Amino acid sequence: MEYKIVYKATDKLLKEALNLDKQVFSKNDVGDFNTCKKWLKIEKNIYTFLVHENHCIGYINFARITDDCFNKFYDGKMKDYSLTENDILPFSKTENNRCHLISIVIAKEYRDSDAISALKEGFSRKIEKMKQAGIIIDDVIVDCVSIDGVKFVIEQFNAKFVTNSFNGKIYYSSSIYQEKRIFPTISLELLSRKNLRKASLIQYQISKNNWCGYCDLLQEVEDREKGLLQKQDLPQTYVIKWKNRCVGIIGLHLLPKHKNTIWLNWFGVLPKYRRQGIGTHALFKIISLARNLKFKEFRLVTYELWNSQAQHIYKKTMQTSEFYTNKQDWQYAIKRGRAMIFSSSLVDKRISKWNNKFVDLLSGEILHKNSIKKLKENGLI
Ligand SMILES: CC(C)(COP(=O)(O)OP(=O)(O)OC[C@H]1O[C@@H](n2cnc3c(N)ncnc32)[C@H](O)[C@@H]1OP(=O)(O)O)[C@@H](O)C(=O)NCCC(=O)NCCS
Repeated sequence: MEYKIVYKATDKLLKEALNLDKQVFSKNDVGDFNTCKKWLKIEKNIYTFLVHENHCIGYINFARITDDCFNKFYDGKMKDYSLTENDILPFSKTENNRCHLISIVIAKEYRDSDAISALKEGFSRKIEKMKQAGIIIDDVIVDCVSIDGVKFVIEQFNAKFVTNSFNGKIYYSSSIYQEKRIFPTISLELLSRKNLRKASLIQYQISKNNWCGYCDLLQEVEDREKGLLQKQDLPQTYVIKWKNRCVGIIGLHLLPKHKNTIWLNWFGVLPKYRRQGIGTHALFKIISLARNLKFKEFRLVTYELWNSQAQHIYKKTMQTSEFYTNKQDWQYAIKRGRAMIFSSSLVDKRISKWNNKFVDLLSGEILHKNSIKKLKENGLI
């Protein structure tokens, strides 16, 4: 598509940009025209607009802010649109430029297009131009209210998670000129008869002590072969492939009775391939698959004790977390493992907490025992 990047904030573009906010943000986070105009009086170079057919279809606003304001953001104690003209500073050639990426927004209908790349490129060009003009960005603080925002700042700025804010995640980057974070190129290969053995052994190796799921994997393949599971149906399990090797497993499934919510399943990377970004990247990919299946809520059950490494990723990326303590469910897993539920919205609406609705952890224990038995019967272990 033919996009245009515009840096000059006209009233028309600004109003269109604020209309986009309404698609994406909750009421309190929607920008206000007069406030934005006041920011622009201090620094006119705050906006990067993405324009298609003469209309703004996306934008980034990025401003230099005072140290005091920067620190408040860093501590998670400042709200994006409580920024006043007193917090904004003009970009400087002589002093530190401590900046705030206020928002990045793309119109709903352009989300799956190349619009985001065009906007990112336009923004990078602007930062580069400023650098050539002697304006060096020292550090950046961002309050990400969506999982897409988190993905953007990790990939684009190699930003690090700092803390939770009022309704998002604070990310910090000490230099946006650093190499972008390049995640290993991975692909997700749907479970089939062809990769069943490999997938089952990977799943077993990662979860052999508690959560072996071989029977479910077997069932999924059989159901697909019989035509009982169509392309869009769940469960869907995938082998994570990297450099042509099968390095992990990840999937999606449903809980009976909860039609809007899609759950993460079997997430694991083999130990020797860990700590290089494969897990995070696979999680982003599966979330995007979940969104394409038109679900509104993405959640996962995890255990503080048994999945301790995964906690880092979830705390950094997912929107809400809560302990799962349902008295009707299996108390061993709840009490010994400290069961937790992390959730993120797949649509432009805040996600509510799961609030202890029944999940059925015991079925996982039964599946585990049956699966170990079946793996032995089938000669896999
Ligand atoms: C969770 C798991 C899939 C992560 O896979 P991975 O490929 O190592 O993930 P990444 O490389 O993307 O690591 C992501 C982050 O986790 C954190 N992390 C991972 N292992 C860590 C450790 N041992 N100590 C501290 N931080 C750790 C890091 O912050 C890392 O991010 P960074 O590289 O930006 O610093 C993997 O550890 C695993 O298979 N664990 C066992 C199975 C499991 O518990 N699954 C979750 C079920 S709910």
